[in-house]
Amino acid sequence: MSVKRVAITTGGGDCPGLNAVIRAVVRVGKEQHGWEILGVEDALSGLIDLDYKSPGGNRWLELPDVRGLLSRGGTMLGTSNRSDPFRFVVEDADGVASETDVSDRVMENYRALGLDALISIGGDGSMRIAQRFVDKGMNVVGVPKTIDNDLGATDQTFGFDTALGIATEALDRIRDTADSHDRVMLVEVMGRDAGWIALHSGIAGGADAILIPEIPYRVEAIADVIDRRRAAGKNYSVIVVAEGAKPAGGRSSIGETKLGAMPRLMGAAHRVAEQLDDLVQADMRVTVLGHIQRGGTPSTFDRVLATRYGVAAAKLVAEEQFGKMVALRGGEIVAVSIEEATAEPKLVDPEAQILCQARDLGVCFG
Ligand code: F6P
Repeated sequence: MSVKRVAITTGGGDCPGLNAVIRAVVRVGKEQHGWEILGVEDALSGLIDLDYKSPGGNRWLELPDVRGLLSRGGTMLGTSNRSDPFRFVVEDADGVASETDVSDRVMENYRALGLDALISIGGDGSMRIAQRFVDKGMNVVGVPKTIDNDLGATDQTFGFDTALGIATEALDRIRDTADSHDRVMLVEVMGRDAGWIALHSGIAGGADAILIPEIPYRVEAIADVIDRRRAAGKNYSVIVVAEGAKPAGGRSSIGETKLGAMPRLMGAAHRVAEQLDDLVQADMRVTVLGHIQRGGTPSTFDRVLATRYGVAAAKLVAEEQFGKMVALRGGEIVAVSIEEATAEPKLVDPEAQILCQARDLGVCFG
């Protein structure tokens, strides 16, 4: 088989650098291989329904479409974290919603469009879906994205570095106002069940305590830090709380869970503030950084990583190396199996050197 027609899709939560990957794939695909490249709208929505229009639907991408795209945040193809074809939400005549498997329909549409391969840019959820399509006979190549940095088999996903920069800058700003008002400031960052954003932004932003999901916290330990700082004449404290942080013996704070979607993490920092309220006499404020961490122009690091991933993904397709995901290992871009990448999430090791060093510096992990 010689590859002629390639689809590209962005799935799951967006992150800075998605457009940079699309640009690289289109540049290499068009200029080196003369491929026809179909941009699939909103994750796999455009393959579940070929008439899907939100707003424009699928489109054939040409070089002018990707001009000026490198520095743009978001994704020109749109995305969704509710379009898993294996758990697709449909409504019956009475408006009752349920999950159903429409993956065969996706396979039919893939064949009807004459596609030879799909480049799936996504996080762990998208890669798991990709693997299931590989098992069904689709030629898929994966590209790892997510601000959470929790995908296995790669040293880093793109999007993480930009999110860190945003969170660190926010912590700098929070510190100024915390200091002026003698307050305890709790800053909630994203990351799902992994503490990478909290850990790195917390260290970079000089946080006094960092609460990550991998180390269930005791609120007494945090109260202790605040009191000790007060006793040393420092009347303010900055505490970074990962959205997945949980108290010892407790669970992460979960909000509403919609059909076909992952449970929403929310309320972690507010919960810590409430628990602290009983233990310390302090004026406390909570800031939830939320989706600010996902928008805006990608950092230099993410632009380079996303571009290298895009070029490498196009090469894998040209070489017909399917079922693979591009990954960063020791500075080199390599190919790993999607199966390996999704076997285990990449979580923070509580005994890792970086944590020990932060502890030596006096950072409390709860
Ligand atoms: O996976 C990326 C991420 O931003 C997580 O850090 C966060 O929990 C989730 O997506 C939020 O998703 P949504 O955009 O659906 O609120």
